[in-house]
Amino acid sequence: MASNYDNSAWFYDRLSRVVYGDALVHAQIYLLQFIKPNSRILIAGGGTGWILEELTKKHPSGLKITYVEISANMMALSKKRSIGHNEVSFINAPIEDTVYTEQFDVVFTPFLFDNFREDTLQNVFNHLHKLLKPGGVWLNTDFQLTGKWWQNVLLKSMFVFFRILCRIETSVLPNIMRQFKQHQYETIAEQTFFGDFILSTVAGKSLSFRA
Ligand SMILES: C[S@@+](CC[C@H](N)C(=O)[O-])C[C@H]1O[C@@H](n2cnc3c(N)ncnc32)[C@H](O)[C@@H]1O
Repeated sequence: MASNYDNSAWFYDRLSRVVYGDALVHAQIYLLQFIKPNSRILIAGGGTGWILEELTKKHPSGLKITYVEISANMMALSKKRSIGHNEVSFINAPIEDTVYTEQFDVVFTPFLFDNFREDTLQNVFNHLHKLLKPGGVWLNTDFQLTGKWWQNVLLKSMFVFFRILCRIETSVLPNIMRQFKQHQYETIAEQTFFGDFILSTVAGKSLSFRA
């Protein structure tokens, strides 16, 4: 059964700031500098939608954003955000079920993949990969384990909490960066946050991919 963040929508942002301070926010804002004016952007799993307001601060107009969120409650909060003169199309559905006629310049996946088992990660990654233009950029931020004991403690606690509340399907972190390597993405830039527990990556899709 797909996860659903409906139960956590009303407190999700506050809880994440209590645990991580501004790290989850900074990890996403860091990525926004890699978005060019007038880009066509696909955001998958945007949560309460605060990222739309940060995007609008940088680009008050000209962006064409497709915002896909599986949780109806998260989507309702996202729709209230200021989007300036940008065009936003809100789609309340699982990202893997969505189809588009045109590819995107940018795919943005902020803390989406940590919800998934390895097989779901592969399916969703393949789907998003096909939606990104050759030469486009994929902006991803998520947790990584670099061998520190406290990372495992925090991660396990999050998995237990969100498994009970939001029915997320996994209890281990899937191998996200392996997907980028297997699909021959070039790392254009990356930065870590919260020690090195969070990794933000700017990955370029090879021009030779025509899928
Ligand atoms: C861990 S939260 C992160 C939210 C937001 N990106 C943030 O950092 O505040 C994951 C989000 O992805 C959404 N999500 C999970 N699976 C999804 C899917 N298959 N398609 C679209 N959204 C999904 C959840 O509803 C939730 O809002």
